[in-house]
Amino acid sequence: MNAVPNAPREPWRDDEVLVAHGLTKHYSVRRGLFGRGTVKALNGVSFSLARGKTLAVVGESGCGKSTLARQLTMIEPPTAGRLVIEGEDVAGAGRAKIAELRRRVQMVFQNPFASLNPRKTVEQTLGEPLAINTSLDAAGRAERIARMMRTVGLRPEHAKRYPHMFSGGQRQRIAIARAMILEPRIVVADEPVSALDVSIQAQILNLFMDLQEQFKTSYVFISHNLAVVQHIADDVMVMYFGGVAELGDKKTIFANPRHPYTRSLMSATPAINESDRRIQIKLQGELPSPLNPPTGCTFHQRCPYAIERCRLEEPLLREVDGRLVSCHRAEEVGDADA
Ligand SMILES: Nc1ncnc2c1ncn2[C@@H]1O[C@H](COP(=O)(O)OP(=O)(O)OP(=O)(O)O)[C@@H](O)[C@H]1O
Ligand code: SF4
Ligand SMILES: [Mg+2]
Repeated sequence: MNAVPNAPREPWRDDEVLVAHGLTKHYSVRRGLFGRGTVKALNGVSFSLARGKTLAVVGESGCGKSTLARQLTMIEPPTAGRLVIEGEDVAGAGRAKIAELRRRVQMVFQNPFASLNPRKTVEQTLGEPLAINTSLDAAGRAERIARMMRTVGLRPEHAKRYPHMFSGGQRQRIAIARAMILEPRIVVADEPVSALDVSIQAQILNLFMDLQEQFKTSYVFISHNLAVVQHIADDVMVMYFGGVAELGDKKTIFANPRHPYTRSLMSATPAINESDRRIQIKLQGELPSPLNPPTGCTFHQRCPYAIERCRLEEPLLREVDGRLVSCHRAEEVGDADA
């Protein structure tokens, strides 16, 4: 048995709600006038999600976070790899089973202005999944909608209002209510606070945490803001260029990151209250092109620790000091230069 939390294990364990084994997603894209290329958006991502816990996924723009979210919510099939939800392998599931698994994994998007249908009232938005998936009659649905609105901090008497009549924060509460209305096991939230005013962000984060306590939901919480991650996460997965750089419990990773990329993220992070919400993590150099990935370690062109081996040999995810890390030099990165 692996000592590291979030390391995917076989066989299935009851305290895990989701296990990803080597999830991979490649997109075929047009390149030049006649050619085609392959964008390797996700390259063998493995982790497990603990019941009732929050795994925060962090990494700079383009590292594959949203692609991962689309695989986990079964919006898109992976190119390779396995996704197991509460012991059930998605790849082996038939159409009815997939529909049922999709109900267990809901999504909250970044932008509540785009993710809500402007022509539907709150009642319609929340009522639809109930009408499709439950045997509740109209009165039962109305009662459930009112209860969920109260739970997320909205007033039930506003059920007949349209999205444009709400503020950004309230709209995100509607989107969260829509995700929670069927009481899913898992919610995948893709940057759910980064489009909101900084003053509203903490309220919405606290709402996520209250809902988790009440419904025991597991979260995959995507964010590029480490201050947000520090607030909400139990466990952290740092992604770089479609792969996992470092994975483990929050305290272990924040106390002493052992991947050079995690270290550079942490040194570049503003505190939650003083940050411009659009501030992105800034590092030396650019992300390499996903159409032309580097050899060896994908971070080697930007890494202050890089040695010749890094250019030639891809580091595998392995256990070092109580977390998983994919770096040839993980033992040397950390304490000494903390
Ligand atoms: N449908 C697609 N077709 C082609 N390439 C794609 C597609 N979706 C994503 N990509 C590419 O895959 C890589 C990962 O994109 P993704 O959107 O998952 O990153 P991200 O971490 O969510 O970034 P951000 O923080 O900006 O939201 C990028 O290079 C992106 O251009
Ligand atoms: S394997 Fe090498 S290049 Fe990659 S992060 Fe570690 S030290 Fe840096
Ligand atoms: Mg994204």
